[in-house]
Amino acid sequence: MKIISDIQELRDHLRGQNRASFVPTMGNLHEGHLSLMRLARQHGDPVVASIFVNRLQFGPNEDFDSYPRTMQADIDKLEKEGVYILFAPTERELYPQPQEYRVDPPQQLGDILEGEFRPGFFKGVCTVVLKLISCVQPKVAVFGKKDYQQLMIIRQMAKQFALPVDIIPAETIRAEDGLALSSRNGYLSITERAEAPTLQRTLQEVREQVLDLGPNKMNMSALDAIEKKALSELTQRGWQPDYITIRRQADLVPASDENLQAGESLVILTAAKLGKTRLIDNLEI
Ligand code: PAJ
Repeated sequence: MKIISDIQELRDHLRGQNRASFVPTMGNLHEGHLSLMRLARQHGDPVVASIFVNRLQFGPNEDFDSYPRTMQADIDKLEKEGVYILFAPTERELYPQPQEYRVDPPQQLGDILEGEFRPGFFKGVCTVVLKLISCVQPKVAVFGKKDYQQLMIIRQMAKQFALPVDIIPAETIRAEDGLALSSRNGYLSITERAEAPTLQRTLQEVREQVLDLGPNKMNMSALDAIEKKALSELTQRGWQPDYITIRRQADLVPASDENLQAGESLVILTAAKLGKTRLIDNLEI
């Protein structure tokens, strides 16, 4: 595997390739990330991964400084997956001057859910993803459904800018007890780690309750009651939930009675803090 930090050197290595597939990450790689590498390999060749902890997407009180950086272990994992190039730019290389031009996603998608609780987050994500895609110029780029809203926003960005890249979604990889793998799981204490699978279990209970409603009782007030119950159960178990909400898969807006009747596909999204660690997860209905 070639490890490259310089944009020009990356371009030189990829010259003449028009089938590259790309997996951007912030490192501290786990099986979720590695599953993206395998999916990338099915869609193109060579596979290019990036590791860059992107300051622009962290809020002032968030964990940019303490975000786990495990470069050597990450390199070993990527080698084993047969990744051809690891692009690991320094901040100086990717942002040689202040990044004043930024991609601001539309409010109705960028300022809800994660965007409401992490102002500027998706602006930082879109800006770095556009820049990384422009450096790598892949045919496809792979993103996990674990970050459901991020995937949707990046898809829309690629569409609206007519980027010559296909955005491929990857299923969420979980621990045996159901907890979605995440670099932030490492922040959990032993007792918190034991409690953490409750988040996914709560989503499953919400899904069961929604399905039990059946088409006749499927309306906004019923969904609202289910959400409130789940929120209070999490709170009672010591979580501090930011949201647990049932949305339309197509655009993440709360479904209206009308589109519920029309049988629109739904997704349940949640973000909640356990101690100091903020976890997110989702489940399609
Ligand atoms: P990071 O959190 O490192 O995630 C990199 C990619 O791995 C994302 O597409 C994410 O959705 C995916 N991923 C994370 N956990 C996963 C899991 N358990 N199963 C499947 N896929 C999983 O997301 C980012 O980095 C950054 O915002 C980035 C897109 C790299 C921009 O900085």
